[in-house]
Amino acid sequence: MFEQLSRLDPDPILGMLAAYRADPRAHKIDLGVGVYQDELGRTPIMRAVSDAERHLLVTETTKTYQGIAGDPVFNERLLALLLGANHRVLEEDRVRGVQTPGGCGALRIGAELIQRARRAAKVWVSTPTWANHIPLIGGAGLQLAEYPYFDAASGGIDFDAMMDTLSRVGPGDLVLLHGCCHNPTGADLDLGQWRAVTELALKNGFTPYVDVAYQGLADGVEADVAGVRHLLAAVPEAVVASSCSKNFGLYRERAGAVYFIAATRAQADAVQTQAMAAARQIYSMPPAHGAAIVSTILGDATLRADWLEELGEVRGRINAMRTLLAARLAGNAAGKDFSFITRQKGMFSYFGITPQQVTRLREEFAVYMMESTRINLAGITPANIDSLASAVHAVLEPAA
Ligand code: LMR
Repeated sequence: MFEQLSRLDPDPILGMLAAYRADPRAHKIDLGVGVYQDELGRTPIMRAVSDAERHLLVTETTKTYQGIAGDPVFNERLLALLLGANHRVLEEDRVRGVQTPGGCGALRIGAELIQRARRAAKVWVSTPTWANHIPLIGGAGLQLAEYPYFDAASGGIDFDAMMDTLSRVGPGDLVLLHGCCHNPTGADLDLGQWRAVTELALKNGFTPYVDVAYQGLADGVEADVAGVRHLLAAVPEAVVASSCSKNFGLYRERAGAVYFIAATRAQADAVQTQAMAAARQIYSMPPAHGAAIVSTILGDATLRADWLEELGEVRGRINAMRTLLAARLAGNAAGKDFSFITRQKGMFSYFGITPQQVTRLREEFAVYMMESTRINLAGITPANIDSLASAVHAVLEPAA
């Protein structure tokens, strides 16, 4: 039977990481996969994470099964981080969640639940969106459609075109929104735009499906979800995926959760049983360790403060690299304006060069970025900025 299967191309993002790791050139630069690197190019374990792990080592008493929904305390603490303490849906008791294996697990259980609720639902995704959204959501059997989003000319959002398309999306369909730090473009909705999307959702009746994978990587853990909180306080129903991979640096531990906001408490309860049934059919229950770390940090004032401080350092470093890169590319021979890099948020920018230039950067200069031209700003360090900038200047030179 296996002869029926053809060999597939590598995953666009993780395949790029494998190619980078296999490259023997010592001066190689990784602007590919969305993983934080410090100024020495390392992906450190956050201080609060190490402290929480030490604590767990001495306090954990069992490795027996958790429930299908994972750790309820983790689910509650992560939800409070997402919504704040006094959010309307908490007061109305209309939100339920299940812990998931990372943000991918959250998105997939969200999609499975949507499929159970409405088989014919269509999910509208931004153009472009994170490369894995499409197979992940489509793999659950949902149809996908695209709404215009990125404006290459300004490096921002073509908001009029986005709203024009969404004005034709109605009840029973979902609109996938990136909570902050849009992946791959770094172009985020501002608060006024979140308000306008909220009004449209209320008027037209589509359901928001929000992916919050980078809370705290743009302007801060509160500021980054102000728009999401506004939206979720207004709409009757929503699906929200939350990941701890980036903001806690817990990539390999697979910690995340999916939350469902329903119109009533009874519906929220029913939805949770369905989400648990979906999880049981796929992986039974989520891994415990990463969520235990997050729960420990969020539940302890000292660890939480230290985590927030280190997250601020991460954010500061990424933003400093944005400023530095834009400055070093100013005055390039092609006359290309890179100032948009400083206006974008989070780990990524859409670099906006040609596919040939992307290939030249990789082959001649060992600079790895996504084929889409997405770059991870955290891959830039004081040690590699000179060679990165000169490589980019070289490929931008008009051919002689
Ligand atoms: C990315 O976008 O690079 C990360 O979210 C890693 C992944 O799983 O694609």
